[in-house]
Amino acid sequence: MDKIINFKLNGTSVEAKNGESILQVARREDIYIPTMCYLAKATPNASCRMCAVEVQGVDGFVLSCNTPPVEGAEINTDSQEDFDETVSIKIRRLTRVVSTMTLNVINS
Ligand code: FES
Repeated sequence: MDKIINFKLNGTSVEAKNGESILQVARREDIYIPTMCYLAKATPNASCRMCAVEVQGVDGFVLSCNTPPVEGAEINTDSQEDFDETVSIKIRRLTRVVSTMTLNVINS
């Protein structure tokens, strides 16, 4: 029998099957997380950093494509609260830098 993990994603209670990543649960719940290197049927190589999310209590960010949720976790994909130098703002900046760098490489 599969173990079910209960956690919150953008404030909504969701369930993950054992082995599912945060990204897989988000996609099932129609929550958009940007990705570049993730391929649904391949092992995640976590190289682009586009899928970074905020996990309450974790310093820094977590890559949603290769990280399974843990019981009781509170995860935000796009927190609009506290418009100061928070982790979520750093994540948005990181995502913007990575996408800009990738587009520059493609266009060069
Ligand atoms: S999608 Fe590339 S690191 Fe997660």
